[in-house]
Amino acid sequence: MTEFGNNHKTAIITGVNGQDGSYLADLLISKGYYVIGLKRRTSLINTERVDHIYNHPIDCTQFKMCYYDLSDGGAMTNLLLKYKPDEVYNIAAQSHVAVSFDVPEYTSEGIAGGTLKILEAIRAVNPQIKFYQASSSEMYGDSTDYDSLGYTETSRMTPVSPYAVAKLHAHHMTRVYREAYNIHASSGILFNHESPRRGETFVTRKITMAAARIAQGKQQKLFLGNIDSKRDWGFAGDYVEAMWLMLQQPKGDDYVVATNRTHSVREFLEVVFDHAGLGDYHKYVEIDPRLFRPNEVPYLLGNPEKAKRVLKWEPKHDMISLARMMYDSDFKREQTKP
Ligand code: NAP
Ligand code: GDD
Repeated sequence: MTEFGNNHKTAIITGVNGQDGSYLADLLISKGYYVIGLKRRTSLINTERVDHIYNHPIDCTQFKMCYYDLSDGGAMTNLLLKYKPDEVYNIAAQSHVAVSFDVPEYTSEGIAGGTLKILEAIRAVNPQIKFYQASSSEMYGDSTDYDSLGYTETSRMTPVSPYAVAKLHAHHMTRVYREAYNIHASSGILFNHESPRRGETFVTRKITMAAARIAQGKQQKLFLGNIDSKRDWGFAGDYVEAMWLMLQQPKGDDYVVATNRTHSVREFLEVVFDHAGLGDYHKYVEIDPRLFRPNEVPYLLGNPEKAKRVLKWEPKHDMISLARMMYDSDFKREQTKP
């Protein structure tokens, strides 16, 4: 018996401080789970996204945070032995594609090596533990293997960044452990998903934060790179439901999670600056060649037909409602700053 007792499900979430980790913790706690959220050691406290759970009088009784790093397989073995989880969600990663060109070894060791360490720990400790892997639409790279409905689970993947190559390694390793050892291991091939909790250096959040500051007279210019690339953007809160649904199926599998709509960064800018009442974004946006990447994924559109059919999953937000939600949140947040 663990310190939480036996009459509940227990889940471990790596990367609980991140965007998805925090929404997933909210969801699992609302379903009655006990959640062991894993964070890495940082020199400054960065638990802002889960502080509402930690400080909540009831929710905090279902939540515990422990230290973990993707490089530490022994630590995962100890956590599995100690907490006896039913489910492990591997959400942690150096998740910034542009940064992966600067620190490819670190990115790869964390994502590819780190995922393998967790799978090995599950195999050794208890192969009945269900496993979720955070795969990515970035894995498709510049593949032209899509039709008018977009990429599917079986489309050819030709990754074009160190991040995506590492994710593809982890994606295949998850399948290998599913097939070789009969582990309930699933990969969610998630297309871009955003929220008010999105990291501040991803393009959507960079835009909504800048627009909120410009609207309040605190900033004049926004510097961006390639604004012609297209992404299938959804809401992170919707996407963590798909993660959970995958682990409730009789068997592990791969699922595309997407909205089936694609928009350019330029269109996202237009929606945000219009909603902010700032008018034409050209007055504020400058293109900075330093923000272009050595390689770019030009176009992403996901076909979530399998997730809809098997998981009965549906996205509730599209790019427009998402952009407005993010801007409104940043506008309020900015108002409370000096
Ligand atoms: P995120 O906000 O960057 O969160 C990633 C989390 O991983 C952070 O809490 C981070 O810790 C932690 N982390 C990073 N390196 C680590 C390490 N070596 N050891 C332990 N923890 C580490 O990312 P996200 O947007 O929530 O994405 C969640 C996952 O889904 C990632 O694996 C990402 O690659 C993948 N994904 C994301 C999207 C998307 O559009 N959001 C789409 C497809 C796939 P700190 O808080 O200390 O930095
Ligand atoms: N970050 C950023 N900053 N991107 C910019 C900028 C900028 O100033 N200017 C233009 N872009 C373009 C990028 O070149 C890219 O084409 C697009 O905006 C989206 O960039 P990001 O928001 O950084 O996301 P991403 O698509 O590279 O990666 C995200 O989605 C993947 C799933 O497809 C991340 O969340 C990954 O972790 C995730 O796997």
